[in-house]
Amino acid sequence: MLQATSSTLQLENLSPFIGTAVHGIDLREPVSDADFAVLRDALNQRSLLLFRGQQIDEGQHVAFSRRFGTLLGHVLTQFLKQQHPEIYVLSNVTEGGKPIGNHKEGWNWHSDLSYKAEPSLGALLYAVEVPPEGGDTLFASMHAAWDALDPAMQQRIRHLKATHSYANYYGKAFADRQPLSDKQRADVPDVQHPLVRTHPETGRLSLYVGQDVVKQIDGLPAEESTALLAELNAHAIDPRFSYRHRWQAGDLLIWDNRSTMHCATPYDDHKYRRVMHRTTVAGDRPF
Ligand code: OGA
Ligand code: MN
Repeated sequence: MLQATSSTLQLENLSPFIGTAVHGIDLREPVSDADFAVLRDALNQRSLLLFRGQQIDEGQHVAFSRRFGTLLGHVLTQFLKQQHPEIYVLSNVTEGGKPIGNHKEGWNWHSDLSYKAEPSLGALLYAVEVPPEGGDTLFASMHAAWDALDPAMQQRIRHLKATHSYANYYGKAFADRQPLSDKQRADVPDVQHPLVRTHPETGRLSLYVGQDVVKQIDGLPAEESTALLAELNAHAIDPRFSYRHRWQAGDLLIWDNRSTMHCATPYDDHKYRRVMHRTTVAGDRPF
């Protein structure tokens, strides 16, 4: 499945609807404009790019990420790297009694920062340390999910809107933790987004849902909203539309949050360490 391109990069598809591995690139070096254009296009078409065996430091991770746009911080500021606050850490590791990163981040299907008025365009996640088993990440194409809906359902939901809520997500995912502070809550008020969004670069439609973070479909009776949301979430994560990533240290993955959802999977967090560094690219308002 290797395709030649005009640059020296080689692209290899990872699954039918989503994911392409990029070979022939060393991200310690600056990427030429020609190669970057190939990457941008591949990301638009395939929603997820994999770069294996990258020995990048934090500065190189940030520099490459910036090529995709402005980088964002996170409401949980305690998990941002002090030297490189563009890097958000996901980890089960503690140092001096303190967690070095957010543990159990994204252990449900979501698209990053969908709870913001302007959610993230995409994220670049770098594997620093990974467990020998477990801790895979699942990615699903929301273009494929939309395309596969029957036309009656497409028509029913085409112009509906939903409320996305970080507080709702946090309360469900992290019920055992200290609740969000008033300041944190004020930082992430609930927002409304279309249930079907348009990719701003390709014009393709995708289903825009999520578990826990989507509180309700607006304008419907509560029961109908709950049932429809459950149906759409179940459809969206059908394995037909997804790719499972088995991590190796040195992997860098970039995904397009405008056309995908992803979900972490568990691992033995008493036995193994997992340390992941994420940069998050700013996006625009879904339409
Ligand atoms: C993320 C995320 C899942 C994982 O970085 O945004 O959801 O498997 N990560 O770490
Ligand atoms: Mn995520």
